[in-house]
Amino acid sequence: MKICRTIHDMQQACRNITRAGKTLGLVPTMGALHEGHLSLVARAQQENDAVAVTIFVNPTQFGLNEDFSKYPRTFEEDCRKLEAANVDLLFAPDAAEMYPTGATTFVEVGEIGDRLDGASRPGHFRGVATIVSKLFHITSPDRAYFGQKDAAQVAVLRAMTRDLNFPLNLVVCPTFREADGLAMSSRNRYLNAEERARAITIYKALNEAQQEAQRGQHCAGCLRETMLAVLATEPALRIDYAAIVNPDTLEPLKDTSNGALLAIAAWNGTTRLIDNILLQANAHA
Ligand code: PAJ
Repeated sequence: MKICRTIHDMQQACRNITRAGKTLGLVPTMGALHEGHLSLVARAQQENDAVAVTIFVNPTQFGLNEDFSKYPRTFEEDCRKLEAANVDLLFAPDAAEMYPTGATTFVEVGEIGDRLDGASRPGHFRGVATIVSKLFHITSPDRAYFGQKDAAQVAVLRAMTRDLNFPLNLVVCPTFREADGLAMSSRNRYLNAEERARAITIYKALNEAQQEAQRGQHCAGCLRETMLAVLATEPALRIDYAAIVNPDTLEPLKDTSNGALLAIAAWNGTTRLIDNILLQANAHA
């Protein structure tokens, strides 16, 4: 695996791949890699001749009181996992490389960036869109891989890719879960045993509402009540949002017959966890 630390080296390495007529898949990450990340890598390998992973804890997507400084950084271990997975290229720049002094240009995502996580994390999706567009420009991939786990991020990046005409396919991969259903996340390592046990209630709430939808309930308000009732069984979880929205626009829905995104964010101790389930159109049919 070739490791690039500078934009120039990474551009060169990606060009060498694409100019040789090979297809390139890109998997952007912030490191602290787990099986969820590796499932994106595996999918990218199935669909491309070469795969590039990026590891960069992007300061512009963290709010002032968020966990940027304590975000887990496990670079050596990450490298071993990516080597073992036969990744071709790793881009791991430092913050000064990505945001040199005087860099003032950002990607504004509009109202979609103020919904779900964007509502509680102002500026978060502006930071995500900016860094991902920079990574797209640097690597020029044929396909870029993102996890359904971060459903609002997917909606924002789909809109960005369309609006800014990035010539690539954005591929969304299913949420990879622990055996008990907890969505894998780099932030799960913050949880103590008590919080870890409690965390599963988020998935239970989504699951219960999904089952109700599959039995024919498509009133969004009713499904939301179901999610809230399950979440209420763990009062120590502080709900940030429990929402039923259009998966593309993230706007609230009244009726889920044409498909819907069930999404929850909750504070578990000092850790904010998110999870979601997509309802297909007419899931009850
Ligand atoms: P990070 O949280 O490291 O996630 C990197 C990618 O892995 C994202 O596309 C995320 O949705 C996906 N992912 C995380 N957990 C997953 C799981 N359990 N199953 C499937 N996919 C999962 O998301 C980011 O980093 C950043 O915002 C980034 C896009 C890299 C921009 O900085």
